[in-house]
Amino acid sequence: MTQFTFGLWTVGWQARDPFGDATRPPLDPVETVHRLHELGASGVTFHDDDLIPFGSAQPEREHHIDRFKAALAETGMTVPMVTTNLFQHPVFKDGGFTANDRSVRRYALRKVLRNVDLAAELGANTYVLWGGREGTEYDGAKDVRDALERYKEGLNLLTSYVIERGYDIRFAIEPKPNEPRGDILLPTIGHAIAFINELEHSDRVGLNPEVGHEQMAGLNFVHGIAQALWHGKLFHIDLNGQRGIKFDQDLVFGHGDLLNAFFLVDLLETGGYDGPRHFDYKPSRTEDIEGVWVSAAANMRMYTLLKERAAAYRADPEVQAAMAAAKVDELRQTTLGEGESIADLLADDSAFEKFDADATGARGCGFVRLNQLAVEHLMGAR
Ligand code: GCO
Ligand code: MN
Ligand code: MN
Repeated sequence: MTQFTFGLWTVGWQARDPFGDATRPPLDPVETVHRLHELGASGVTFHDDDLIPFGSAQPEREHHIDRFKAALAETGMTVPMVTTNLFQHPVFKDGGFTANDRSVRRYALRKVLRNVDLAAELGANTYVLWGGREGTEYDGAKDVRDALERYKEGLNLLTSYVIERGYDIRFAIEPKPNEPRGDILLPTIGHAIAFINELEHSDRVGLNPEVGHEQMAGLNFVHGIAQALWHGKLFHIDLNGQRGIKFDQDLVFGHGDLLNAFFLVDLLETGGYDGPRHFDYKPSRTEDIEGVWVSAAANMRMYTLLKERAAAYRADPEVQAAMAAAKVDELRQTTLGEGESIADLLADDSAFEKFDADATGARGCGFVRLNQLAVEHLMGAR
């Protein structure tokens, strides 16, 4: 069974945007756990402040945690991932880990550490770091090299902390190019992977890429996920929909670039990712509370349908023949033969002197035929 999970903040979004007020009442996390369970989800995730309102006193804090735990116990829902809100309160207006103000950085670290303890208590093994406020609007406002040093310092402290405590927790950085900051640090999967390689316990740090975030930058999400898998860094994933280069839409999964979503599901199902299929979407502001649950169900339905279509595509003999004609599998063969040296390659006149570049260059690749078959499977036409 596919493991579907949702953030409390997704269905719980009251649809406040920069131009308008909330269109929906708040949702009780306990109700969310029950409703998502009924709809077929297996778990929930949350920011500290989604569960325990910012500034709660200790008894209040315990009360919120206890009733949440009771809902989990009643339903059997799990908490595979937890994260921190380091973006809402005005204190984080210049970031958490990379704020110029050192006291803000120390406060942010304390906020994360406290919530990491709660994550461990609830059995989460992924801790997401989305640095939405880690960035700038003005290039002179922050030395990016210093900011990256501080980001690194923060990550190194966190990994040391979980190792010391013996927590089975790995951190997952969630890249985003912009919004709410004009430019966010670690804007893409590629930037984040390069950053992770500089960390002390880099094996404990990977990625939580989000569909819409790469697409906001005009990038191919399937390629990004394939590269993350290749580096062994796909620790978690945020599924949603986005229509082109614009503000972060957080649409239902598949309601943006559907063909890219088809190949994404194909990749996740065949590429060795065994983590949760986590939906980080926002029920559109036009929807009432009934529409919230309709949209939550739509995410899971889209994934399930795409999974079926992708499996049918792979099983179709015509697709297999088209793939063979397009030499898709040939890319798996190493370019030099086993034991072949550069000297052997240099001595092989069939590779160069006698190679007919013109004839090979004139031969078609057959990629369009293959893609048409994919689209037909996606449309249910085959
Ligand atoms: C966004 C982000 C956030 C983060 C979440 C986890 O839409 O910009 O996806 O939703 O995933 O806050 O920290
Ligand atoms: Mn988003
Ligand atoms: Mn996200």
